[in-house]
Parts: sequence; C-alpha cells; structure tokens
Amino acid sequence: MSATTITLQKVKPTEADALLAISKRTFFDFFGPLNKPENMEAYAVTAFTPQKIQSELDNPDSEFYFALINDQITGYLKLNFKNAQTEFQDPKAMEVERIYVSVDHHKKNIGKQLLHFALNMALQKQMDYIWLGVWEHNHNAIGFYQHNGFEVFSNHEFWMGDDRQNDLLMKKIL
Ligand SMILES: CC(C)(COP(=O)(O)OP(=O)(O)OC[C@H]1O[C@@H](n2cnc3c(N)ncnc32)[C@H](O)[C@@H]1OP(=O)(O)O)[C@@H](O)C(=O)NCCC(=O)NCCS
Repeated sequence: MSATTITLQKVKPTEADALLAISKRTFFDFFGPLNKPENMEAYAVTAFTPQKIQSELDNPDSEFYFALINDQITGYLKLNFKNAQTEFQDPKAMEVERIYVSVDHHKKNIGKQLLHFALNMALQKQMDYIWLGVWEHNHNAIGFYQHNGFEVFSNHEFWMGDDRQNDLLMKKIL
C-alpha cells in the first residue's frame, strides 16, 4: 500500500472528547475480534472514561499526539516520562504506552512516522532507551516493533476482564 504523510499535533487538555473517541474506536476495532466482548467491556469501563482520559491528558509527564491526514484524526500516540511510566519510572527512559493507527490506514507508514517522532523526542530529551509493553498475541505489533529495532527484555502479566494476559516488554537503546 502507498505511504501517506501525516501531520502530528500535540493533543490539548481541551481535546479529551476527540482523544476518547479515537482511543475507544481503535482499541475496539483492533482488539475486539481477538477477545471476549465481556472482557473488552470490563477493560473499557475503566480505561475509556472521560475522567480517566482527562487525568491522563492533565499529567505533565505524559504527552499525546494525534496523527492527522487532511485534519482527520487517523491515529494517536501516548508517551510517558518520569513517574507517568507504567513501570520502572526510570528518569532516563521514555515509554510508548500507546501507538494506534485506524484500521483502514494500516500499512501506510503512519505507525512508522509516529514511532520516529517518538524516537526523536526521546533523543531530544537525552533518554537512554525507549520501551513499551505489547500483548504477546499481538503478532502484528511485535513484528512492527522488531522491524523498527526493538527487542524483548522482559514480560508483565495483566488482567483483561477474567482473562490473564501476558505483555512482552520491548526496548530500543538510543
Ligand atoms: C502496530 C501499528 C501501529 C503499525 O502501524 P502501521 O501504520 O500499520 O505500520 P507502518 O505501515 O508504519 O509500518 C512501518 C514499517 O514496519 C513494517 N511492519 C509493519 N507491520 C509489520 C509486521 N507485522 N511485521 C514486520 N514488519 C512490519 C512495515 O513493513 C514498514 O516497513 P518499512 O520501514 O521498511 O517501510 C498498527 O498496526 C496498529 O495501530 N495496530 C493496532 C494497535 C496496536 O497493536 N498498537 C500497538 C499496541 S502495543
């Protein structure tokens, strides 16, 4: 498929509604077919509330970016620094907590542009490494990260409703 150039725009604290909409939509589109509906709902009722999204947006150590094509939101990125990181809280590390591209825009180099932006941000801030967690059955994303120089270094278990799942932790040294 052909590459598409995106514009990246930092999400403002007043844009929680748009962020909630793209977060929920991309999560359900991609993970819905792979999980039981009741487990998806159980996860969504805590992860995707206006209050939760607003508090994430208001965290000074987290940054969200929209991927725009002709002013249309086609994906987003969430970066965590310092204590906003979901594990380790290493001040010399940056976590890519979320990188999502709308399903109808996959394989057009949009994920790569988001990841390159994240890498440049980490370099600018003189981080030692960039890391992330990815569901062990998300072979598409694991392939994408490996292709872009990430390696597995650990794992982390979590619950999706009543389903115990395993995330692989991957990192790229800068
Ligand atoms: C993972 C995701 C962000 C990738 O985005 P994308 O826009 O489809 O990927 P891109 O087109 O930018 O791919 C970039 C490069 O990685 C390669 N790549 C993409 N998917 C790959 C895969 N599964 N295996 C190997 N390489 C892959 C591409 O071939 C491309 O290579 P190039 O640099 O040589 O051109 C996207 O599939 C997505 O949003 N998935 C659902 C949400 C998700 O799983 N997020 C991660 C949660 S941790």
